This record gives sequence, C-alpha cells and structure tokens, in this order.
Amino acid sequence: VVNSTVGDAKARQMESFTIHQDSTTPLTTYFGTKVSDTDKALRAGARGPTVLEDFHNREKISHFDHERIPERVVHARGASAFGEFKLHIPLTGITSAKIFLDTGKTTPAYVRFSTVGGSRGSADTVRDPRGFASRLYTDEGNWDLVGNDMPVFFIQDAIKFPDLVHALKPEPHNEIPQAQTAHDNAWDFLSLHPQSTHMQQWILSDRGIPRSFRMMQGFGVHTFRLINAEGRSTFVKYHWTPHLGTHSLVWDEALKLNGQDPDFHRRDLWDAIEAGAYPKWELGVQLVAEEDEHKFDFDLLDATKIIPEDLVPVKNIGTLTLNRNPVDYFTEVEQVAFCTQHIVPGMDFSSDPLLAGRNFSYQDTQITRLGINFGDIPVNRPVCPFATNQRDGKPNMFSKSNRMAYHPNRHDVLPLTAPAEGGFAPYPEKVSGVKERAHGPKFNEFVSQAQLFYNSMSEVEKKHIIAAAQFELSKCFETVVQQSAIERFNLVDHDFALQVAEALQDVKVPDAVPNHGKRSEYLSQVTGKSQVFTA
Ligand code: HEM
Repeated sequence: VVNSTVGDAKARQMESFTIHQDSTTPLTTYFGTKVSDTDKALRAGARGPTVLEDFHNREKISHFDHERIPERVVHARGASAFGEFKLHIPLTGITSAKIFLDTGKTTPAYVRFSTVGGSRGSADTVRDPRGFASRLYTDEGNWDLVGNDMPVFFIQDAIKFPDLVHALKPEPHNEIPQAQTAHDNAWDFLSLHPQSTHMQQWILSDRGIPRSFRMMQGFGVHTFRLINAEGRSTFVKYHWTPHLGTHSLVWDEALKLNGQDPDFHRRDLWDAIEAGAYPKWELGVQLVAEEDEHKFDFDLLDATKIIPEDLVPVKNIGTLTLNRNPVDYFTEVEQVAFCTQHIVPGMDFSSDPLLAGRNFSYQDTQITRLGINFGDIPVNRPVCPFATNQRDGKPNMFSKSNRMAYHPNRHDVLPLTAPAEGGFAPYPEKVSGVKERAHGPKFNEFVSQAQLFYNSMSEVEKKHIIAAAQFELSKCFETVVQQSAIERFNLVDHDFALQVAEALQDVKVPDAVPNHGKRSEYLSQVTGKSQVFTA
C-alpha cells in the first residue's frame, strides 16, 4: 500500500527489501526447485504411509513449526504506521542534532502504538497505558522516543520493573486475568508502592481507555538532554499532541468494544490511513536550562513527576504525519525493535534511573526476541550510511567486503568522526558521590502531583475515576489490599477515598489530610483545553 510518500528514503529502502511474489512467480521450494503438487504428501501407495523423502512436505511443515517468535515481554499487542516529520521551529543554540535544526527537511518516521499488559491476541480497548514508540530515521541515525500516552510512570527505578510487570501480568498459575489492573496482585503492588500514586490516577482516569490511537498524546516521560555545538546541555521533556484532540471512551463503550471488535484501535488506525485521513501530532518540548535543574520542588530525574506547564510551557516545534500502512505485519511491526538508547549527536540522557535501566533492557530483550542481528531487519535499519565492526551472529544475511573487523588496522580502517564533524560524544556531566543504592530526597514525595491531577479533573471526569477505582478494587478479594489502596487514595483526596469506599465492604477511610489545592496549568491538555495548530 503505497502513496505519495513512497519517494521517501525509508519507503525506498523498505521496497528494496520487499520480495514481490504473485501469479507470475512459480511456486518453488525455499531453494528454488519448482513445485508440481503442494496439496498431497508423498506416500507409499494411496493408502500407505507418508515417506520421509518428501522434502517439500518436510520443508513446508517445518517452516510453519517455527513461524512464531517470542512476543514482547510487555507491549506485546500493537499496531504501526510509517510517516514523516517536519520541523517548523528550529532549536538553534539548544542542540546540534540536525533533526531539530533543519526546517527544510522531511524525515521518514515510524510509530508503533501498543497496550502494555495483554498478550499479542488480547483486546484493544482495555484499561491500560498505551505505548507510543516513535522513530525518526534521521540523516544522523535512528532516533527512538519510546514513550507512553501518559507522562509519568508507576515506578522510579528500573530495578523495580520486573516486580511491577509480574504484579500486573496475569497470575502465574492460571494466567487469569488478562485485564491489567483488576486483580489483587496489581493493587497489592500498587498500594505497597507509594511512588505509583500519581500514575494510579492516570490509569484510573479516562486516559486509561483512549478512543483511538489517533487521539492520544504521547510523552517521552523521562527528562533527556539536548547538547549544542559548544557542548552546553539543556534538559528536555518531549510531548506528542494529536491534532484531532485527546479523546477517551467511556467504560461501557470500552467493555462492549472489547467483545464486539477486539481490533478496534488497530482497525481505526489502518482504515484512517487507507482513507487518506492521515493522523498528525505536534512534537512539543519543555526546555530547562542546566542551571535550573534544582529549582523545582520535584526532581527532574523522577519519572513519576511531570513538569507543570505553568512552570515550563510546552513549545511545539514540528509535525509528525502517519501516512503509510505496513506491507507485512510480522516483518515491519512484530520485528521493529525500539531502543531508548537510540539517540543521535546533539542528544543525551539524564541520570534518571528508570531510563538507565531501559537503556539496557530493550536491546537485551531484543536479542532474545529477534537475535543479535536485529539491526539488519529492514524496519530497524537507518536510512543514513552505516558501517560497524560487528560480525557473524545468527542469522547474518550480509557479506561484508571489509576483512578488517577490528580497530585500528593498517589496511582498511573504518574512520572515526570527531564530535565537531558529527561524531557522538557523551555530555561530560560532572558527577561525584559514594556508590550506594539510593535516590535523591525529592524522590520521596509521592502525593502532591497526584492531588494536582485529581483536582484538575472536571466533575464528570472525577466520577469516571471514582467508578473505575470502585470497579478495580471491588475485583480484589483481599480486604487488606483494598484498605491499603483506600488509605493511599485518601492522601490524594478525602472525598475520592470516601466515594470509592462506598463500593467496598470492611474498609475504613482515615481522616482527611491537607490538599495542595488547585493549579490551573497542571498539564494543559489534561484540563481539556484544545489547541489550534496553524503550522
Ligand atoms: C516495550 C514504553 C519502562 C522494558 C515498551 C514499548 C513501549 C515502552 C512504548 C513498546 C515498544 C514497541 O512498540 O515495540 C515504556 C515507558 C516506560 C517503560 C514509557 C517508562 C517511562 C520500562 C522499563 C523497562 C522496560 C523500566 C525495563 C527495565 C521494556 C521491554 C519491552 C518494552 C523489555 C519490550 C521491548 C521489545 O521486545 O522490543 N516499553 N517502557 N520498559 N519495555 Fe518499556
């Protein structure tokens, strides 16, 4: 399925890896022998045993036997599309990354949207965060922003991720339930982890059941760095904001759709692109000068906190358009391997401990899922020239003409690129400290932004959060888990805790605690303000 953008560099590259088979191509074995019968196995007589020598039969069945690869350990169910990114406002003086400097450039893009907890065959409209993994195939290498549709996360440190996912995934003994937040383990974990208080609000809110992938925000969640040509760093948070606005289902719709059309989101994205109704997002940045790192009452390295927009406004700098459906789901969607560590010169990481773990985890899991040569898979290849000294591994499809797979050598060395010429160099952040298992003191405040979130909701939205919390907790069998969750909710809002408790038996709501009050610009999109895009 091609359209006007087939001329882009990624589309041409993908096309060069596409094998065209149609009725003009004779059916052959894998190794080129033309096949005369593919319906009946070779047998010793019409009613006799099937013989081993039938290489076509064995090849056909054996290949089928190995068709499946492990699904992603999280975010197993997803849908993707290709597209393009155009910059409108250059970040001159902020970064040397060309993707953020050249407004004349159209950069090929790719996005995979996903649910988190369900398996590959699960339904689309469950209550769950949604993955919003984007890739720009820039002239300086792939930039992957592997985000979610929520700007915060459940935990602060990646060492907790296996615990979190084990609690949210189905029970080990009976694989029940599929729904993410509707069982004791989930709420046991969440209520034992005060750091999840803010994310609990997001997941219980209407944001947990988006109307469409096309109507979702995306967030990079972590604080990253942009580095300019002089080596100066600016902290950055990334936002994708949909031109169609942010919309949710109501719970009743979500439940019905789960039964009637479990592919609802996947179909919606596919159909819109086929119909030429290309979804678009603005890429927004919140920029914080290096010297302002400590001026907030939260830690920029804490992924359970946003930067409220009244403190740092979001500046929209470019537009992402998705305009081309994949040709082959397995090759292009199942085999895409996003990695948070895929950044380009002019960017770097912050010391967010959640991000550090992710920078290890994605490549590590993809070695199991796809093999060490996953970078050779067409959807994962950059469009810029690339050359490495990596070799061999399973399977390796490309012969390298260069014999010298080591550096340096005296024969045919792959040249290095100085930072001034576009070579990547890590930001020389000054660090000091003793080695310890610890977080900064601001990591220990868990409630105030959850309060801001709840307070910024309209009355209808609050009703939805209360109903969602009543539903989720009423599915828990253990009173101690319900009681613990209610105590946490009470720290967010006393009235909220009281109303949720009405649906439960044997839980006690503690006395009210001070509420940090209302803040209008918690996050402008959350409070329902629509934005007009003129770019
Ligand atoms: C997959 C987002 C935290 C491990 C994904 C995907 C997204 C995502 C969008 C799907 C990628 C795709 O479409 O192929 C996030 C966000 C996080 C977060 C926004 C927090 C801010 C973590 C952490 C870990 C982790 C802390 C591990 C320490 C994984 C793994 C996969 C995955 C193993 C499967 C990747 C694959 O098989 O290709 N995540 N994640 N994530 N995530 Fe995360």
